[in-house]
Amino acid sequence: MITGGAGFIGSHVVRLFVNKYPDYRIINVDKLTYAGNLANLKDIEDKPNYTFVKADICDFEKMMDIIQSNGVDGIIHLAAESHVDRSIKDPFTFARTNVMGTLSLLQAAKLYWESLPEKYEGKMFYHISTDEVYGALTMNHPEGVEPPFKTVASSEGHKAYGDDFFYETTKYNPHSPYSASKASSDHFVRSYHDTYGMPTIVTNCSNNYGPYQFPEKLIPLFINNIRKRKPLPVYGKGENVRDWLFVEDHARAIDVIFHEGKVAETYNIGGFNEWKNIDLIKVMIATVDKVLGNPEGYSLDLITYVTDRLGHDARYAIDSTKLQKELGWEPSLQFEEGIEKTVRWYLENQEWMDNVTSGDYQKYYEDMYSKR
Ligand code: NAD
Ligand code: TYD
Repeated sequence: MITGGAGFIGSHVVRLFVNKYPDYRIINVDKLTYAGNLANLKDIEDKPNYTFVKADICDFEKMMDIIQSNGVDGIIHLAAESHVDRSIKDPFTFARTNVMGTLSLLQAAKLYWESLPEKYEGKMFYHISTDEVYGALTMNHPEGVEPPFKTVASSEGHKAYGDDFFYETTKYNPHSPYSASKASSDHFVRSYHDTYGMPTIVTNCSNNYGPYQFPEKLIPLFINNIRKRKPLPVYGKGENVRDWLFVEDHARAIDVIFHEGKVAETYNIGGFNEWKNIDLIKVMIATVDKVLGNPEGYSLDLITYVTDRLGHDARYAIDSTKLQKELGWEPSLQFEEGIEKTVRWYLENQEWMDNVTSGDYQKYYEDMYSKR
């Protein structure tokens, strides 16, 4: 069972598992909120090992029924409210889905697995979380001084904006309602291991980018705005730092960890790929202009500095040495390569983007089921 499989990261995980494991029966459970789009899975929707169920993870009875009637023996849990700006405006929805939804899923899995003759044997509850639960790191390099080139594990030449990183042992210190709700859900998942012995794993990943991301997030929003010559709203001075990972690399990490990760462990997943927002935005502008055949620097005038996000975390930077050393996972793409691939995907999939921005994608589900 994969929850949130119609969303951005979930759709990549579902696609990977459906294609790679023809012997697994994959059940995608998704409520299809504004962020869920079945068009993200068009290429695999007719595969015999794939089933979609529209359901809310907060609906405990329904979760019980899905898990029981399908004999679910593994859960990869991605369903969540995921956008920080929305959490600032509407924190209750985040507490409901991310905290209560995760708890109802945990409890349903526990009750079903406990009812089986062999307690939890071969089962797994894998919870997908974010690096934002760790709070914010400082950028402790004075203005005008080039960041040092640190060597961290296999990431020789890694450009870091500070001396510290998020480790698996870093104390939780969430600042936004989004990260507070994810932190709470992480604690619940670990508590089910510690209290009931449930086989759980939690992973905390950095910012993802790639195809099928909802265009409220920085990268798809800006690619679309550049194409449409609309302003690019840069929060504050654009100096905040994020660590970016190509979404297919995250999906590959989830596959490795689900199969080979150690129960009750936490793994950090990151790209060793820190970028100041403004530098990243300039790379995006240059790439979109190049692909569209615009003169160099053509879209730079779209940059518009706007009021900063409330409580905007300065810097996120993951140390994923543990995952690299213990399970041999590494990011596969250089950022420039990944961003070009991403830009090309959004520009070549205008129909997808137009359906999402117009709201037409929400009819896709109704149309699909009315035809069956
Ligand atoms: P997304 O917003 O694109 O997708 C979330 C999916 O969950 C959607 O399909 C939505 O319909 C579904 N959903 C929401 N509420 C639901 C509910 N109550 N019941 C059932 N389904 C529901 O999110 P994403 O970016 O793909 O993130 C997936 C997971 O990965 C989240 O848990 C998020 O916290 C985590 N994460 C995301 C990032 C990132 O950069 N996007 C980084 C690290 C971790
Ligand atoms: P986002 O994609 O919302 O991810 P997160 O907040 O989870 O890291 O934002 C990435 C960075 O880009 C973050 O520092 C906020 C900034 N940002 C803007 O400057 N303008 C925007 O319109 C958006 C959506 C984000």
